[in-house]
Amino acid sequence: MKTQICIIGGGPSGLMLSQLLDRKGIETIVLEKHSREYVLGRIRAGVLEHGFAELMREAGCGARMDTEGEIHDGFEISDNGVLRRVDLKRHSGGSSVVVYGQTELTRDLYDARAAAGGHVIHNVEDVVLHDLNTEGKPWVTYRDGDEIVRIDCDYVIGADGFHGVSRKSIPADVLTEYEKLYPFGWLGVLSRTKPVNPELIYAKSDRGFALCSLRSQVLSRYYIQVPLSDKVEDWSDEAFWDELKARLPDEVAARLETGPSIEKSIAPLRSFVAEPMRWGSLFLAGDAAHIVPPTGARGLNSAASDIYYLYHAMMDHYLKGDDTGLEQYSQKALARVWKAQRFSWWMTSLLHRFPETPGYDQKLQETELAYLFSSDAALASLAENYVGLPF
Ligand code: FAD
Ligand code: DHB
Repeated sequence: MKTQICIIGGGPSGLMLSQLLDRKGIETIVLEKHSREYVLGRIRAGVLEHGFAELMREAGCGARMDTEGEIHDGFEISDNGVLRRVDLKRHSGGSSVVVYGQTELTRDLYDARAAAGGHVIHNVEDVVLHDLNTEGKPWVTYRDGDEIVRIDCDYVIGADGFHGVSRKSIPADVLTEYEKLYPFGWLGVLSRTKPVNPELIYAKSDRGFALCSLRSQVLSRYYIQVPLSDKVEDWSDEAFWDELKARLPDEVAARLETGPSIEKSIAPLRSFVAEPMRWGSLFLAGDAAHIVPPTGARGLNSAASDIYYLYHAMMDHYLKGDDTGLEQYSQKALARVWKAQRFSWWMTSLLHRFPETPGYDQKLQETELAYLFSSDAALASLAENYVGLPF
């Protein structure tokens, strides 16, 4: 096969780029390791910043998001039982976020690719990237049963998530990886229950962090901080609800509607950045190049800025013959990626319980939170980062 751009990974990053480029007449093939059902079964992000929502609209995929998604102008922070609201709209100068599940937006992108006759090939095995940094053009192979299929292209986009092959195709002496592991994970539960609060609640408590989020008015998403040694099997639904309630203000716990979990999983918290994000004709995007702890809802939103820069760089290349965007991609993308890293680290440090933290650090954490709610400047900084820095 032959195409202009071969995209590895059919998650939100790969599908979004494919859909945007297709609308400009630029050809792509997307190779996805898993089935569509498997990708849609992974419950992940729920909060989209303004810039991501705009990209969905530009991709012609914003209609369902705009009717079914919820605009949130703020969220609550609970500090050991005391609730305080962060007015995002006021402190960011009029911006807000959209609550719309990653599952739903991925479904919208899959539907749009199918309607446009786009090539998204599922269940590909043994993807290998070739000639990424030689004089000739790159090519990609994958296995389909007993057959090895070859795709010739101009560029390869590595949008295959943290565990994908793309980043690993860059030689170790070229790539620098920066990583920070946190000594805990998030246990998440999805339940067909009415959300406990119209807005999200980020809860700091002596028992550890908790988050009350939602997907719709009948679908709730809750998380609690757990030790890395915990397994999903250790947590019955009843134990989860009891622990969640114990971390929330009494009045919130009293109105929490519980029910059977329809998904339950543990995600370890990690910060990670790989530099550079371009090597020859390979460009990394999204989780393939960087991971944030989920506290600030930045992961998918960081992927969105990579896609925005790549989309514009590819348009400039194919439609205007201008390669400046491609040349500056890594530097531009990384500048924004590191700001999302900083914010996610800050939100994580502010709200979690760190095992064996000395008294001095605990005092600083308390002071940071007290300062936040005493200063419009501090609230403005939180709000501008949460709604998304400009691309
Ligand atoms: P992925 O979604 O990982 O997609 C990569 C795709 O590549 C996958 O479909 C995978 O199957 C495929 N693949 C892998 N290897 C290969 C291969 N060798 N060949 C072909 N295909 C391959 N972000 C937010 O912005 N807001 C939030 O509220 C938020 N909440 C989160 C909550 C949790 C619990 C978690 C775990 C994450 C959360 N995130 C959030 C982060 C967000 O989900 C990710 O940043 C996002 O999925 C990144 O998209 P991606 O397309 O880059 O990577
Ligand atoms: C969700 C996840 C997050 O990491 C976050 O900060 C907010 C919401 C969610 O899954 O709904």
